[in-house]
Amino acid sequence: MTKPVRKAIFPVGGLGTRFLPATKSMPKEMLPVVDKPLIQYAVDEAHEAGIEQLIFVTGRGKTAIEDHFDHAYELQDMLSGRNKLAALELVKETIPTPGQLAFIRQQEPLGLGHAVWCARHLVGDEPVAVLLADDLILSPRGCLRQMIDAHGEVGGNMVAMMEVAAEETASYGVVAPGQSTGRLVEVRGLIEKPKPADAPSNLAVIGRYIIQPPVFTDLGRMERGAGNEIQLTDALARQVGAAPFNGYRFEGKRFDCGNKVGFLEANIAYAMARTDMAPEVQSIINGFAKG
Ligand code: G1P
Repeated sequence: MTKPVRKAIFPVGGLGTRFLPATKSMPKEMLPVVDKPLIQYAVDEAHEAGIEQLIFVTGRGKTAIEDHFDHAYELQDMLSGRNKLAALELVKETIPTPGQLAFIRQQEPLGLGHAVWCARHLVGDEPVAVLLADDLILSPRGCLRQMIDAHGEVGGNMVAMMEVAAEETASYGVVAPGQSTGRLVEVRGLIEKPKPADAPSNLAVIGRYIIQPPVFTDLGRMERGAGNEIQLTDALARQVGAAPFNGYRFEGKRFDCGNKVGFLEANIAYAMARTDMAPEVQSIINGFAKG
């Protein structure tokens, strides 16, 4: 029987150089889309998917993330004293159940695979989800919820997947697809950041994964891949044939918040999805369109 997915890893050790100087003293995961930091969207998605334990793999200069998910006594006290109860509620909603969050340091930036491997002792012998906060997905049902439901049927390893333009394959893990059944596509191979000429398809891995314990064993070999980094994609690729492995074509729109234009687009889309903001934002957009 497939074990339930109860834990999630959030690799948040990255430097965020694409957003300098904004990220000079602030983690990129704290950049807000409208009024919520990227990392909180990912955490909310995990909660919606029924995840019970959240493991953050952090690095130097990331304490703002820990503080974000903790009580802010002075602020809460002030808000309650001034009877700003709606604001107080927003602050309290960010605070998880005591003991639900764990923080591990990735001491050296050796790649996504290495970051995930750093969490191995907290995961133990069960499947675990991995969420990359840079990939923000707007959908009626959270992407991880969709994947966990499908995973309950097929088990094994699973990656979120979408079609990208053929010339963009070098920015992604790319799937060599087999048979498809509904939203599931069998993964026969995976290549990290292939040039378009070498890409087996235009089906790209998006930052949501469900991985099985042998992936950690493989990562422990510390084999280097693209960019001389320890790649999660490579460790997963070596699991092809050992366990069921599917790509999941999720429902929803994904925003690449790892780059500036994608991040701006996300801000517009999320503002437009809010009834309190949409009319005003629409009229601003119309104004730009007129030039
Ligand atoms: C990472 C993964 C890549 C995946 C991508 C999704 O790359 O290594 O396989 O397709 O996330 O966003 P990064 O964007 O960190 O370079």
